[in-house]
Amino acid sequence: MSITAKIHLGGKEFEFPTTEGSEGEKAIEISSLRSKTGYITLDEGYGNTGSCCSAITYIDGDKGILRYRGYPIEELAEKSSFIEVSFLLIYGHLPSRDELRRFSDLLTQNQVLHENMKHHFEGFPQDSHPMAMLSAMINASSCFYPGLMGSANRERFDIHAARLISQVRTIAAFSYRKSRGLPITYPKPAYKYTPNFLHMMFSEPYAEYEPKVEVLRALDLIFLLHADHEQNCSTSTVRMVASSQANLFASAAAGVCALWGPLHGGANQAVIEMLNEIHASGDDGRRFIEEAKDKNSGKRLMGFGHRVYRNYDPRARIIKKACDALFKALHITDPLLEIAQRLEEAALNDSYFVERKLYPNVDFYSGIIMRAIGIPTEMFTVLFAIGRMPGWIANFKEIIEDPKSRINRPRQIYVGPTVQSYVPMEERGK
Ligand code: SDX
Repeated sequence: MSITAKIHLGGKEFEFPTTEGSEGEKAIEISSLRSKTGYITLDEGYGNTGSCCSAITYIDGDKGILRYRGYPIEELAEKSSFIEVSFLLIYGHLPSRDELRRFSDLLTQNQVLHENMKHHFEGFPQDSHPMAMLSAMINASSCFYPGLMGSANRERFDIHAARLISQVRTIAAFSYRKSRGLPITYPKPAYKYTPNFLHMMFSEPYAEYEPKVEVLRALDLIFLLHADHEQNCSTSTVRMVASSQANLFASAAAGVCALWGPLHGGANQAVIEMLNEIHASGDDGRRFIEEAKDKNSGKRLMGFGHRVYRNYDPRARIIKKACDALFKALHITDPLLEIAQRLEEAALNDSYFVERKLYPNVDFYSGIIMRAIGIPTEMFTVLFAIGRMPGWIANFKEIIEDPKSRINRPRQIYVGPTVQSYVPMEERGK
């Protein structure tokens, strides 16, 4: 029996259908609300608004559950790899051996940027933020692929998707090298995805960078854990742009821009800056916690809190464990890790955070692992973008394959001046 929602407005009763997802999530379908009642809904920040039905990722924020195409993140983190998970997210099933080899070959065949792209790097000031370069270069690289436009965007999707996943890594590494005044290092066909990224980042013309296996595993895990996260700010941005039938590269470049904000993907950089500030001030963290609770301080405990998770972010738990394992394997310590652990301990026992259900999120420990690998702080959000690329592409594909897809165009409630007549300059105030 289908459940309906009834709304009483102006002495009339209106009925609306409801829908239920495969995990029991429920929604009131209000597509006829305005035509029936003249009203729209208003939900600042979309905390209660579903923008789409999607089959890619499931999150239960109360239970701290995250699944990619039904597979628990804990299992994928332990048994899978970033490239296998990328295929899973985009194509909806775990690849056969042949499918994975073909996908990996496609990434290798499409990993080199068009040679003319190098000139664009020359144009950026040396201290440009790599997220600005990343979004610009993703769009610039699309100029070299006229087949991206129009229906070819759909027909040659597999090539474009592989090109984007592969090149986002090359662009990131080139941006880093340029920002340090270093010669760019080209990818090696024999190298797999993650080793090739580290090779392009850290190998020198005279010395090959040879990462330890624990470093490779930790970085691949970081990419895997960031691969998708349902309708977060940047993925919703990608869907918004894709809904106008813009091409894949334009949609991804928009996603990079949304991810950059410190409330979203930029939080991993903000966490390390926060930990450095606490470390430099000699504070043991307690003073900072008090400031983060004070609305007037303008400070937040970065890496804590989440719009959906009202429990521990499962990714944060996995990253924290991987952090400990990496530090043991590399025989290293980091005062920032100790500060982070103290902050977590203090916050999880503080009523302010407990009452608001604020727990560590994916960004709280990810920066510490990236630091240990030798990634510079300003590159942290770029690595988040590399990891999130398959999720953005999967959401783009879901839109272009949906025959019911239409351009996203929200409404608003206007609160500006009511009608008024033009005032000639001579009649205006000074
Ligand atoms: C990511 O959406 C996703 O899935 C994102 C992501 C992904 O994989 O794509 O998971 C990645 O972006 C993780 C979040 C990274 N951002 C941060 O760590 C920045 C710090 N966190 C916050 O700014 C905040 O928690 C957000 C942005 C993450 C969530 O913001 P909401 O849901 O809008 O919550 P809110 O700002 O309305 O906060 C509710 C209350 C407020 O206090 P009251 O007004 O109720 O008194 O909690 C407080 C906030 O002041 N609060 C915090 C806090 N986060 C929320 N107070 C101090 N420190 C914090 N971190």
